[in-house]
Amino acid sequence: MASLSIHICVFILCSSLFIPINCHLHGYPQQVALFIFGDSLYDVGNNNYINTTTDAQANFWPYGETFFNYPTGRFSDGRLIPDFIAEYANLPLIPSYLQPGNHQFTHGANFASAGGGGLVETSAGFVIDLKTQLSNFEKVEKLLRKKLGDANAKKVVSGAVYLISIGSNDYISPFFATNSSVLQSYSREEYVQLVIGNFTSVIKEIYEKGGRKFGFLGLGPLGCLPVVKLLVPGSTGDCLEEVTVLANLHNRALSETLKKLESQLKGFMYSILDFNTSAIERMNNPSKYGFKEGKIACCGTGPYGGVPSCGGQRTVKEYELCENVSEYVFFDSSHPTERANQQYAELMWSGTPNVTGPHNLKALFELTQY
Ligand SMILES: *[C@@H]1O[C@H](CO)[C@@H](O)[C@H](O)[C@H]1NC(C)=O
Ligand SMILES: *[C@@H]1O[C@H](CO)[C@@H](O)[C@H](O)[C@H]1NC(C)=O
Ligand SMILES: *[C@@H]1O[C@H](CO)[C@@H](O)[C@H](O)[C@H]1NC(C)=O
Ligand SMILES: *[C@@H]1O[C@H](CO)[C@@H](O)[C@H](O)[C@H]1NC(C)=O
Ligand SMILES: *[C@@H]1O[C@H](CO)[C@@H](O)[C@H](O)[C@H]1NC(C)=O
Ligand SMILES: *[C@@H]1O[C@H](CO)[C@@H](O)[C@H](O)[C@H]1NC(C)=O
Repeated sequence: MASLSIHICVFILCSSLFIPINCHLHGYPQQVALFIFGDSLYDVGNNNYINTTTDAQANFWPYGETFFNYPTGRFSDGRLIPDFIAEYANLPLIPSYLQPGNHQFTHGANFASAGGGGLVETSAGFVIDLKTQLSNFEKVEKLLRKKLGDANAKKVVSGAVYLISIGSNDYISPFFATNSSVLQSYSREEYVQLVIGNFTSVIKEIYEKGGRKFGFLGLGPLGCLPVVKLLVPGSTGDCLEEVTVLANLHNRALSETLKKLESQLKGFMYSILDFNTSAIERMNNPSKYGFKEGKIACCGTGPYGGVPSCGGQRTVKEYELCENVSEYVFFDSSHPTERANQQYAELMWSGTPNVTGPHNLKALFELTQY
């Protein structure tokens, strides 16, 4: 009974806006929540709980070796970009939506799924596609309304920042498919428009629910990922031009779309990191950023560590693991090390407009009018 009355008391203080310190301690509703959507760059463990293959999972050693000391499902040796963003925003680690337990979700939730894309066809049957991630968000939104009441749930949703990383798999997986007819049945521009069109409708639906502040990541240098350079049929060891062209088209279309949304949707604000430039910089000049190796993966086999065998639980069982992971930009054949993730997260958080714009995430988190 005592604890109930304390809760009610805090509740009233918070809605009166007079004693923010009290509310900060309890994290509600003054603190900005973080909702996360996307692919393996952002998946903190959702794929541990779906019926898929180890190709789309990283819940085995040595994933997780650096920070957590056990595998969590993250495709890295340690933390991912959203983990660092949560830290900079003074939030706890945001749990994966499917992780068992009685979650409150008042600080947010992570819906991302490794292998997922903007198109439902991408890795269909093995991942949670973006539309399904959206419907999971809608379930959380309903839950918040039930718990906090409509008005307070609305505050959480409209004050929150929405981080989304999507698209890489839409452009990479067709090159690995035995049936890549999807790339033959559309022009490049048409295919990019399908991905962007689906992406845009998800952004608009989050906006409809009340979401206003969005953080994006442009596509990285997909054609230069160790796995793409090594394993796409026809590749010669150089960056794969065909994939680079698609990624560049996507990045350009995404920038244009976001500018359009900003002018069409009242209150819509966003941040986007030029991930390609930041990643290429580190791959080409590793020592400038404190790394020793920019292009070879720490964990895997074959040239550049391009065979995705890290952990020995996938098709190929042999793998090598580097001695000092913080010297590397890539942890496995397509994912950054924790150290690289931290640098990308810092750029997203406080990067200058030539790298992260038109706002950075720090500015979006500090913005409390909505
Ligand atoms: C998981 O997928 C496999 C292969 O697609 C199937 O055989 C199995 O029955 C599925 N398991 C569950 C619990 O759905
Ligand atoms: C490839 O996929 C297309 C459409 O998805 C289908 O019509 C075609 O039969 C498939 N071809 C093979 C060889 O599986
Ligand atoms: C979304 O993708 C599907 C293919 O999965 C496509 O048929 C549809 O037109 C796309 N939607 C938009 C709005 O582009
Ligand atoms: C990334 O940046 C490099 C260097 O500026 C450029 O050549 C490439 O086209 C860009 N895009 C991708 C997707 O790699
Ligand atoms: C690992 O590499 C980092 C970055 O180069 C360096 O600071 C650190 O001292 C190295 N650790 C060991 C044990 O060699
Ligand atoms: C962005 O601008 C800062 C200074 O404002 C500069 O130090 C940095 O090199 C620039 N980065 C890029 C990628 O142009």
